[in-house]
Amino acid sequence: MTNPSFFKRGLAIASLALALAACSSGEVPAGHSSADRNEGHTKSSSGLPAGNIAAGEKFANTKRPPTNQACVECHGTNSDSKLPIDPVTPRLAGQYHDYLAHSLQMYRDGDRAHALMSLQAKDLTDQQIADVTAYFGSLQNDKLRDLHGVH
Ligand code: HEC
Repeated sequence: MTNPSFFKRGLAIASLALALAACSSGEVPAGHSSADRNEGHTKSSSGLPAGNIAAGEKFANTKRPPTNQACVECHGTNSDSKLPIDPVTPRLAGQYHDYLAHSLQMYRDGDRAHALMSLQAKDLTDQQIADVTAYFGSLQNDKLRDLHGVH
């Protein structure tokens, strides 16, 4: 006997895995160095244009519909006085720009759903995603740990 919801979940996981595999089928970075974070986009596995950190900073500080809030008002910039507004809002500072870009593309394209973020992302252009993720990726975040070589 087959449990349909189990089967459905299996399908969803399989298609997510496929989507991720498709995203990373391009050039794979040799490793995530601090240069990856600090110099913004050089190569992108999400197929985006090169990002501009200064343009991204401006964008991240611009109030936008539908809530008339800027990205940094919710996500912070990770200086001690600028943490995310609450525990369910992730820290974007210092995360790999490609990871953030994939997330935004998924919200925009309906592959990841969240009542708030799907609306924030629905009109973003590829260039805006590249810029804003280059900016957040360039910020310091001492709370993230690099797990390379841990095991
Ligand atoms: C009103 C608050 C709010 C605003 C404004 C907002 N976000 Fe978010 N964002 C959230 C929340 C809450 C989540 C967690 C959603 C989830 O659980 O999927 C999130 C998730 C994300 C993620 C996924 C992070 C991860 O680790 O997977 C990214 C990337 C992101 N936001 C980028 C942005 C950008 C760029 C902007 C500005 C264009 C923005 N957000 C504006 C609240 C906000």
